[in-house]
Amino acid sequence: MIDLTGKSAVVTGAASGIGRATAGVLAELGAHVVLADVDKAGGEEAAKETGGTFVRCDVSRREDCEAVVRTAVETYGGVDVLFNNAGIIRRSTVCEITEEDWDLVMAVNIRSVMLLSRLVIPLMAEKGGGSIVNTGSGWGIKGGGQAISYCASKGAVVNMTRAMAIDHGPQNIRVNCVCPGDTATGMLADEARQLGESADAFYDDAADRPLGRIGQPRDIAQTVAFLASDASAFVSGAVIAVDGAGTA
Ligand code: NAI
Repeated sequence: MIDLTGKSAVVTGAASGIGRATAGVLAELGAHVVLADVDKAGGEEAAKETGGTFVRCDVSRREDCEAVVRTAVETYGGVDVLFNNAGIIRRSTVCEITEEDWDLVMAVNIRSVMLLSRLVIPLMAEKGGGSIVNTGSGWGIKGGGQAISYCASKGAVVNMTRAMAIDHGPQNIRVNCVCPGDTATGMLADEARQLGESADAFYDDAADRPLGRIGQPRDIAQTVAFLASDASAFVSGAVIAVDGAGTA
């Protein structure tokens, strides 16, 4: 059974979308949640909703990540669960992308996973184990058009997951990756904007989806809750698509 009573969880990108829904589900299951995001207003609102603690944080900055982990330790006694979820997308081909955008996407989507994971791993090891869940993407496995830096970064997240699971299994730290398909969040709306299309058209684009709809943030959150809990005690290094058999 999925029970997170008394566990301390850090969720990045928690001000909106998948992160916000996950903070809510983890809290419903009994976890104490630290919500980290660059978006102060959204993060504070989400923290109020979940009864958690918000820390304003740019996940690509080491000092900000340290502040998040410090808050989790001081407020909830450590970190049992880390959900590396904050992410951004820039829509461009390899010929079009600027070096600045390339570096930004890599910093937010990958560097953050390295920075936060290595802060929490010693704490988890000291307490006898823990669970890290990374957010990849279907595009991190099979690629996608006009999102070269995003696809590269998510491919790295997928493979970092496997590498971290191997390295830290002996410390009873499990590392897994959820790969959402198209999910109705601000990111999808942002993608639509960058392609000059309407968000509604993206959200409503269900005709060719096997389950007749795109994902909702809670669909991903429930899978993360499973991976965070002892119900998945022998699941590590797994890359799990949560995409309704979708084509994204
Ligand atoms: P979203 O845009 O609703 O949420 C992303 C959150 O990350 C926002 O609250 C944003 O403020 C935060 N964020 C951005 N840069 C940050 C930074 N430097 N430091 C801290 N926080 C930062 O989007 P969504 O969809 O909830 O995205 C969550 C994750 O899911 C991302 O990693 C994304 O790549 C992934 N994903 C989303 C899919 C979708 O269709 N929505 C599909 C596949 C993967």
